[in-house]
Amino acid sequence: MDNILEVKNLYKLYGANKSAALKLSKQGMTKDEIYRKTKVTMALNNINLDVKKGEILVIIGLSGSGKSTLLRMFNKLNVPSSGKIIFQDKDIARLNKNGLRDFRKNNIAMVFQNFGLMDHKNVLKNISYGLEIKGLNSKLAEEKSLAMMKMVGLDGLENESINSLSGGMKQRVGIARGLATDPEILLMDEPFSALDPLVRRDMQFELISLQENLETTIIFITHDIDEAFKLGDRVAILKDGELIQLDTPANISKNPANEYVEDFIGNADKSKVITVRDIMIRPNSVVRLKDSPIHALNIMKENAVSSAYVLGPKLKFQGVITLDDALKASRLNLSIEEVLIKDVALADLDSTVHEIMDMSVESPYPIAVIDKSKELKGIVSKVHILTSIK
Ligand SMILES: Nc1ncnc2c1ncn2[C@@H]1O[C@H](COP(=O)(O)OP(=O)(O)O)[C@@H](O)[C@H]1O
Ligand SMILES: [Mg+2]
Repeated sequence: MDNILEVKNLYKLYGANKSAALKLSKQGMTKDEIYRKTKVTMALNNINLDVKKGEILVIIGLSGSGKSTLLRMFNKLNVPSSGKIIFQDKDIARLNKNGLRDFRKNNIAMVFQNFGLMDHKNVLKNISYGLEIKGLNSKLAEEKSLAMMKMVGLDGLENESINSLSGGMKQRVGIARGLATDPEILLMDEPFSALDPLVRRDMQFELISLQENLETTIIFITHDIDEAFKLGDRVAILKDGELIQLDTPANISKNPANEYVEDFIGNADKSKVITVRDIMIRPNSVVRLKDSPIHALNIMKENAVSSAYVLGPKLKFQGVITLDDALKASRLNLSIEEVLIKDVALADLDSTVHEIMDMSVESPYPIAVIDKSKELKGIVSKVHILTSIK
């Protein structure tokens, strides 16, 4: 995937004596110690990361870890102390007034935690405002805004006043306004943290489906690990202004960079992150539909298992044969096909452990993992599921 943004050696220091602070940081002193000694806050400390085109990148960390400082550099609400943020070969931090105006108008938009709406304008006007600034005539701007409202579930509320809306509805307005200008990049600073949990879950779901349709790159801040893992294609973990780990939720779960990350993600529901692909194993007992039941019997005996997975032409998965049925078939001279159990629980490679958990409990055999062409890729037993989420 192409990178849409590249952050290089980015620092943000608040305070006068920056060079002393930097020196202490290079000697390994912590953010707190440096502040005590120099009264300089190392808000961002040598951040390097890429943002991939079309991804949802979630930035997570405790309060004060530098999330907002970093996000606000992407649209130059904050200016780096040093380092670069490259967008289309240009350093955002060095955009002049006109360059910055064009960039904000055409390429990037932001949704705020406290919604940042204009109370004196109605819903429609709040959304169309950015389009009118962009130079669209008000009729076109309204049409576009109405379409956006429909997408985010605000149908029919165009004339409502902002103050009459619930928190969830206000944030829908914020999102519609952000998306109305078709930005390539949408910045979201804890947009859902003021919402109650049920509304929040709806909004998360809708953001994911919106983003799938629009292909906007989203940089999303949260301090909620479940939200981060649910929304993020990749998740960046910040601590004391430093980037500790940047990876997919599944990889972070499997290989936390250090103890801090391990503790941090400790409360996350791993079953929603780990996929079948991560935990499946190769079935050791596989037979062909045209094999003899005796052959199936021998394979199961060799591997000390009581069922075998049966494949047809092009390795397509057909079903399961049990030890008992193989015995019976060889005694009665039946084919594998005649005793085949076709009603077997199936999962695809990208199903999460959470999604297959109930199915696994009910299934008498390990779940068969198949790809789009029904080729058998692996199997998942109850034991694999249990050990994966420990
Ligand atoms: N304008 C500022 N002046 C001085 N220090 C600041 C300023 N803004 C942020 N900080 C400090 O920078 C650090 C990072 O803050 P921030 O990016 O807001 O964290 P987060 O969004 O992760 O809660 C904190 O230690 C904060 O106190
Ligand atoms: Mg913040």
